[in-house]
Amino acid sequence: MFALAALATFALIGAALYNVLERELTRHQDDDLNTNLQNIRYSIERVGDTERWARVQAKMDTLTPADGRVRFWVLSDDPRFQYGKGLDEFERIVQGADGRGSISLPQHGQSFRTLSQHIGPLDQRPAVRLIVGVDVAPFGHTLRAFLSALALLSLSAVALVMLLGYWIARVGLQPLQQLSREAQALRPKTLSQRLQVAELPVELSDLATAFNGALGRLEEAYQQLEAFNADVAHELRTPLANLIGGTQVALSRPRSAAEFQDALQSNLEELERLRSVINDMLFLARADQGEAATGLVDACVAREVEKTIEFFEFILDETGTTVGIEGETAARATMNVALFRRALSNLLQNAIEHSAANARLVVDIAQQAGAVWVRVSNPGLSVAPAHLPRLFDRFFRVDAARHDDGLHHGYGLGLAIVKAIARMHGGAVAATSAQGITTIGFSLRGGPGG
Ligand SMILES: Nc1ncnc2c1ncn2[C@@H]1O[C@H](COP(=O)(O)OP(=O)(O)OP(=O)(O)O)[C@@H](O)[C@H]1O
Ligand SMILES: [Mg+2]
Repeated sequence: MFALAALATFALIGAALYNVLERELTRHQDDDLNTNLQNIRYSIERVGDTERWARVQAKMDTLTPADGRVRFWVLSDDPRFQYGKGLDEFERIVQGADGRGSISLPQHGQSFRTLSQHIGPLDQRPAVRLIVGVDVAPFGHTLRAFLSALALLSLSAVALVMLLGYWIARVGLQPLQQLSREAQALRPKTLSQRLQVAELPVELSDLATAFNGALGRLEEAYQQLEAFNADVAHELRTPLANLIGGTQVALSRPRSAAEFQDALQSNLEELERLRSVINDMLFLARADQGEAATGLVDACVAREVEKTIEFFEFILDETGTTVGIEGETAARATMNVALFRRALSNLLQNAIEHSAANARLVVDIAQQAGAVWVRVSNPGLSVAPAHLPRLFDRFFRVDAARHDDGLHHGYGLGLAIVKAIARMHGGAVAATSAQGITTIGFSLRGGPGG
C-alpha cells in the first residue's frame, strides 16, 4: 500500500515536472528563434543589391554554429537572393499562420523547429521569406535524459518507501502483536488478568481499556455462574439426601401398606418442591439471558393486586392476617399479568411468613417518574441493613442455618424472581427495613395513561 501510494505520488510529481521542463525548453527555443529572426530580418530589410546581400550571407554564416544547431534559410524567386538549402530539398515543411512551423531534412534525419517571416522587396531584391530553425534533437535528448532519471529516482524512492513502510508498520504493529499475545493467553482461570494499558500508544489504549472493561464484565458473569453452579449443587444435595434417607428408613424393615403410602406421600412432596425449584432456576436463567416480558397488556394495578390477594385468602384467614391496598389505586401499568401476580405472590408469601399472627400487611401503589411501584410492608423482625442489598440474590436467605435444620423451607429464590420479573418489565426493585417494618417492592413501566 505504501509502495502504491508512493508510486502514485511520484508519477504525479514526475508528470508535473516533465511538463514544466518541456514548456521551459520550448520557451527557451522560441526566444532563441525570435532573437535570431529579428536580428537577420533587420539586416535583410535594408538590403536591395547583391554586394550588400553577400554581407548578409556572411553574417548568417557566422551566426550558424559549426554543429548546425541553428540554421537560416532565405527563400526567394530570384536565385541570387537565396540562402541555405532550397525548398525542394526539405523533406517536409509545416508552416503555421503565426510563422511557427517545423522542417525535416532528409540526409541527416534532422528536425528543426522554425520561425519565419515575410520581408517585402527593396530595389533589385524581390520579396523573400526568412526562416530560422533550431535543431530539436538536443531538446529531445534533454527531455529523454530527464525522463529516465526521473523514472530511476522514482523507482528507487518507491523501493525505499516500501522498505521503510514495512519497517514502520512492523514497529507500529508491535504493541498490537503484544496485545494479541496477551489476549491469547487469557483463560477462564486467568480472567482476573488485564491487558497492560500503560505502555500502549494512545490509538491502542482506548481499545485495550474497552477490552479490559469487557473482561471485567465477563469475569463478573463467570464468577456469578460458578457461584450459581456451586449453589445449585449445594441446595439440591440436602433435599436429595432427605429423600434417600427417608426411602432407606422406609425400606429398612417390613412395613404396612399404610406406612409405605405415608413415606411415598412425603417423598412426593419433596420431589414436587424440587421440581418447582428447578423450574424457578430455569426461569431465572432465561431472564438472565435478557428475555423481555411478552404478552404485555395495559392493566389496572390495584385490580391485579386484589386478584392476587384472593389466592391467599385461606392462609390469611388461618393466620388472622389482613391486607390493605393503599396509594394511587387508579394507577395503570403495562404488564404481563401472570408474571406480575407471580412477583406479588412472592412478596406476599414472604410478608406473611415473616410477620406474627394477626398482623396487618399493606400493599402500596405509587407512581414515580413514569414508573409504577408496588411495595409490600409487614411488621416483623427487621432485616439488618447489611443484608438488604443481598435479599434479591438467588439462594440468599438471612438465616440460612434455619434451612439446614429443616425448619424453614424457602430456597431463597423468591426475591430473585421478583427482581427478574421487574427487569423483564424495564423496572427495578427496592427494600427497606426499619423499626419493625419491612417493605419490599418492585416497579413496572407506567401504562399509556400515566
Ligand atoms: N418480609 C420480609 N421480612 C423479613 N425478611 C425477609 C422478608 N422477605 C424476605 N426476607 C428475607 O430475604 C430472604 C430471601 O427471600 P426470598 O423470598 O428470596 O427467599 P425465601 O423466602 O427464603 O425462599 P423462597 O421464596 O424461594 O421460598 C428470606 O430468606 C428472608 O430472610
Ligand atoms: Mg420467599
